[in-house]
Amino acid sequence: MNISNTHNVLHVEIKLKPGNTRIETIENQLKSELNCFFENNKNYLSESEIIVNEQHGPNIQMHVKSISIDGNSFSTINPPPIVYHIYRPHTRNVEVEMFQDNQEEGGEEVPASNHWLLPSHSFDGLWENLIYEDNLKENLLKFAESSLVFSAHNVNQNVISCNRIVLLHGPPGTGKTSLCKAIAQKLSIRLMSTYKFTHLIEINSHSLFSKWFSESGKLVMKLFTKVREIIAQPKSLVCVLIDEVESIAYARESMSGQEPKDAMRVVNALLTQLDSIKESPNVLILATSNLASNIDLAFLDRADIKQHIGLPSVRAIYQIYVSMLRELMRVGMIHEKPIQQFQDGADVCILKLAKSSVGVSGRTLRKLPFLAHAMFMGSAILPIDLECFVQAMQSALDKHLTDQRLLEGKPNNN
Ligand SMILES: Nc1ncnc2c1ncn2[C@@H]1O[C@H](COP(=O)(O)OP(=O)(O)OP(=O)(O)O)[C@@H](O)[C@H]1O
Ligand SMILES: [Mg+2]
Repeated sequence: MNISNTHNVLHVEIKLKPGNTRIETIENQLKSELNCFFENNKNYLSESEIIVNEQHGPNIQMHVKSISIDGNSFSTINPPPIVYHIYRPHTRNVEVEMFQDNQEEGGEEVPASNHWLLPSHSFDGLWENLIYEDNLKENLLKFAESSLVFSAHNVNQNVISCNRIVLLHGPPGTGKTSLCKAIAQKLSIRLMSTYKFTHLIEINSHSLFSKWFSESGKLVMKLFTKVREIIAQPKSLVCVLIDEVESIAYARESMSGQEPKDAMRVVNALLTQLDSIKESPNVLILATSNLASNIDLAFLDRADIKQHIGLPSVRAIYQIYVSMLRELMRVGMIHEKPIQQFQDGADVCILKLAKSSVGVSGRTLRKLPFLAHAMFMGSAILPIDLECFVQAMQSALDKHLTDQRLLEGKPNNN
């Protein structure tokens, strides 16, 4: 079994350009060119991303799109051993499995699950762009890796319990669903030597509880028959994402009245299926919820980790803003200008904006540059000065906060 102690090493991820060259045929050349490069340029080991240029060997220049390094801090004088992960993202689009919500003719089709083969180009950059404090995402990844090490080594579940179920809960728009997908993508890259294929299956809990379902219990069975087929494939890791898992609890609560049996059957079927698939060592279950108090206790009890994902702190907001402003500089919409990192003193106007954004979700933050441009800079000549753009973002934020207060029925303070 190839899953080893993955924590005390330096992970270097090498993303290949699209092409037909088999990874096996260029793997050794790439590794030796990289070893040679890092031997002579140890300081690069503390970078998170290395741009490929003429300093690199010919195979790297020909085949590699980007090189990223695990962000953990370590001494560049005596770095830990390097582990290379060479991958080429799959370009296949998501496969959507549709179910008919009424067995009789004319029933509506609803999406029951989404299926990706990982690493997927759809999730490129997702991990890097999710910003949390206190190594939250790195710790979750370590947890997922550890749980797979335990199952791969056949640790007796009756002696040491590990269900391989992670629950992320917290307010809307804090990146829970994105983080689950990013973790699955990371695992597919990091564990490639053990699992040649990684699948992500996102179960649409809502559609399973459609009120028109007459035989939902059977549909859950049908859905899991497919999941089980994938699990049975050799060398495959299967990450099952159950988004908004509280809808299971909602289903139980709504079991009043005349027809509680069907909903009950769905919940029971889902829990039974989860229990049965997690018996396989190559399954990881990732669940999200923004109403933790509503989650079915039977499910809650099964989760090994219940991680709260909160609204971003000032430091995280600052970083999110910097990443968005840099993107607008990259595409030429804002004048190129160096921006100070938070820890190095921070840029005054961005810091002011970040401080007034506390309490706003990551989802809203990510929309702000677009709103700023649409509302306040639509006719401006490009590229725009950084300060002017940040000012427009501040105005867009103020408008958002006013709209939010009005929506909540609170008086407008302005
Ligand atoms: N901490 C963060 N850092 C960077 N981006 C974030 C962060 N939190 C949220 N986002 C961005 O917000 C968007 C929404 O994220 P996502 O849908 O994963 O949130 P969620 O918590 O699942 O929301 P919901 O509870 O409504 O389902 C994504 O584009 C994500 O990149
Ligand atoms: Mg979500």
